[in-house]
Order: sequence, then C-alpha cells, then structure tokens
Amino acid sequence: MNAPTGQASPFLSMGPSSVMIQQQQPMNYMMGDAPAQVQQQVELSPMEQQLNQERLHLLVSDLLISEKREAALAELSKDREKFAQLAPTLWNATGVMTALLQEIVSVYDLLQPPTLSASASNRVCNALALFQSVSSHNDTRSLFLNAYNCLLAHIPLFLYPFLNTIAKTRAFEYLRLTSLGVIGALVKSDDVEVIRFLLSTEIIPLCLRIMETGTELSKTVATFIVQKILIFQIGLTYICATPERFYAVSTVLGNMVNDKPSARLLKHIVRCYLRLSDHPRAKDALRQCLPDSLRDKTFDKHFQSDQAMKRWLLQLLMNVGDYASYHEFMKN
Ligand code: TRP
Repeated sequence: MNAPTGQASPFLSMGPSSVMIQQQQPMNYMMGDAPAQVQQQVELSPMEQQLNQERLHLLVSDLLISEKREAALAELSKDREKFAQLAPTLWNATGVMTALLQEIVSVYDLLQPPTLSASASNRVCNALALFQSVSSHNDTRSLFLNAYNCLLAHIPLFLYPFLNTIAKTRAFEYLRLTSLGVIGALVKSDDVEVIRFLLSTEIIPLCLRIMETGTELSKTVATFIVQKILIFQIGLTYICATPERFYAVSTVLGNMVNDKPSARLLKHIVRCYLRLSDHPRAKDALRQCLPDSLRDKTFDKHFQSDQAMKRWLLQLLMNVGDYASYHEFMKN
C-alpha cells in the first residue's frame, strides 16, 4: 500500500541535542534519532564489546529487582545508543517488558487529579525511552505491536492515558512528549501495519487535541504523526471518510496556521494539507477552507528559507485550483 519510499523523515535532522536544549532536562525521547538500523555503533574492540554486553545484561537483569530498577532505567536510557542489542535483549529477557509496563501503569493513579512529580515523570519517561527503543528496532517492532502474549498485546495503548492528560506542568508535558516520541518512532518505520494498528485506535483525536493545546514541540510531533498516517492510502481514506473527520483535522490545521507556527511545524502542516488535497472530496473542501495566510505573504520568510516547503505549498495551491495565489507566489 503506497509505501512512501525515499521520504526522509523530517525528524532525522533534528538531533536529540536540539530537543534537550529546548527542554533543559535530560530528555529521553528520541524523535531525532536515526532509525535503529542505520544507527552507527561506535567502533569497539572485541574486549570492549564483551564488557559492553555484560554491562547490558547486568543492567537489564537489574530491571527485575525493585530497589535497583530506578537506577537501571536511568543508565539504560542514557546509554541506549551504546547497546546495539538493547531492544532484542529487553524483549527477550523474561519479565522485563512486564516490569516496564508496570512502571507505566503505576503512574496512572497520578494522572487524574494531576499529581505526578518531576522525579516520577523522569522515571516513567526512562521506561518509555526503552519502549521507544523496542518500537523502533526492526527485529522487535512488529512483536511490540502485536505481541503473541495477550498481556503484552498492543502496548502502545498503554501510552494513551498519558496522551490524554491535559495538565500543563513540566512533568506532564514531558510525559506526553515522550509518549508521542514512542508513537513517532513507530510511524517513522513507514510500515503499513503500524498505520493499520494505529487507525484501529483513537490516535487521531488524541493527536488533534495535542495539536490544539500542546506546546510547540508536542504539536510538531503530533502533526508529524498525522502526516505520516495521511501518507498511506488507508490513512487518507480513514481521515476523509466522513465530513466530520475531515473538518476536525482541517480545523485544527487551520488553527495552528493562525497561531504563527515555527517553520518546522509549518512544514508538517503544509505536508498534511498537500496530502489531503490528493483526495477528491477533501480537495474540493480545501478550496473553501484553506487559510488565507497560506495563500498570501504571511509566511514568505519561512518559504524563502525553505524551498522544499515552498514547492509543496505551490503544489497545494495548484491542486486546489487557486491559480491566482499560485501566480502571486511565482512572481518572486
Ligand atoms: N471514533 C472517531 C470517529 O470515528 C475518531 C475521530 C474523532 C476521528 N475525531 C476524528 C477520526 C478526526 C478522524 C479524524 O470519527
């Protein structure tokens, strides 16, 4: 199904350090990471590799000991890029995925009323970072999505209570962003099974809410997820299946445009609109409801510095048949 080949993920260029700077705390989600399969391992001697393996196994077994779990979570999450075998090791070690799920479930009580502390948030985000590693590794992704074991089936659903929170404190924002990161890593695989699974859940309304009320960074990741879903034919068909669904999405996109988005966010918004314009009925609707600020010079500065985004916008204007605005843009 329409697997989008050759589409560089916009997040590949956004190194984890850029996220860290914005958050000013040791962040664990890895939207900026290269997919696991292209992640370069640092060259290690056989001796170092052996030691590294032993340390990995020791830390993973510490996850099963309650007094050692918090420190092991922090260490593994911090050094996750050093361990090529992290994801399969976590997945295959008996009881470890269950222990990680336990970490997640144990903070549900703190979500409503919102009483999650910064340190509890940090701890669960470290667990989420390990989930993300499992969800982005080629050997474990589909197992993660569709575990044979009933208890572990559909693990991403365990993150939805986090995405559903609205508290504005840093602890909650960090939790939402890290959970979005796990979903973002899943959709980055361009695997239609991921999309099929997500569409069977309520991911779109959750993303839309975050696109409406989140911080700039959360909005960006949520919009990225919607964009990735839309790229697949089943995603486009799902979102355009009813007028209510289409207008829910286009209204939120329009509101974000009116909120003066960053260039990075705007890029994802334009991609979403452009993809919607591939659908015949959505194209007709967009002719009416595409925001004026995308038809005039409002974002000229962003378009000048990002020619790819400008081309997408021009294509969008063509698709919806707004030739007047198209020619205005072509003048300069
Ligand atoms: N269950 C809702 C539906 O089927 C999910 C939903 C809410 C939704 N808002 C949406 C789906 C916007 C797509 C777009 O409509």
